[in-house]
Amino acid sequence: MNKLAQPVVTLDGPAGSGKSTTAKEVARRLGFRHLDSGALYRALTLALLEEGTPPAQWVDLTDEDMDGLPIRVSSREADFVIEVAGRVVQAELRSPSVTEHVALLASLPAARRCLLYLQQVAGEKGGLVADGRDMGSVVFPEADVKVYLVADLHERARRRLEESGISPSNVDVERESKVIAERDRQDSERELSPLREPSNAHRIDTTSLNFNEQVEEVVALVEALYVD
Ligand code: DC
Repeated sequence: MNKLAQPVVTLDGPAGSGKSTTAKEVARRLGFRHLDSGALYRALTLALLEEGTPPAQWVDLTDEDMDGLPIRVSSREADFVIEVAGRVVQAELRSPSVTEHVALLASLPAARRCLLYLQQVAGEKGGLVADGRDMGSVVFPEADVKVYLVADLHERARRRLEESGISPSNVDVERESKVIAERDRQDSERELSPLREPSNAHRIDTTSLNFNEQVEEVVALVEALYVD
């Protein structure tokens, strides 16, 4: 284990692989905080949309522009609270317009630099389960436990739809699979910090695992740190 009294655990993987829900529950069971890095990309997107900056101009924004956006991340006991323009945001981060524009934002070097700093500050003290696309590869390359979650495309689509309260038909699953495959493509082909499996990550295929099983697999990897 590194010199931190409390470990850093990273969970990366493609859209719909169950990273965020798994990370949140792993953090709860271990008494760590959960950092949902996708939510930070969404918060920056929301801030820009609210400011009225047209998405076509986002590519021209400088580091100063990004750093000047009114987002704040503060550490609470179990997780982090994200504020945009002084108000706590949660459901808004999942709105269709944020979801539509977040991949563009995530492809911008200035946005990634701005969030890299915020995320590393959040992880400074350890005791953290961070999920995203580049947690183990770029943001916390020295993490104590790195996990890469994968699952079959159709299974990921089915889970996504069920999470939003739908009992999906085969046609729904087929349609959602196309949307997820396109997001996977954008995340993997992005020039900066593309979605990559860290070389020293534990790969867990969750296709045939239930939620409790996948949480337990990750918790067991962390608990193994404490055994000589
Ligand atoms: O996990 P999510 O759907 O909330 O992620 C939102 C977007 O942010 C998605 O396009 C991928 C991107 N993202 C990223 O590029 N790097 C991360 N560490 C987390 C999310």
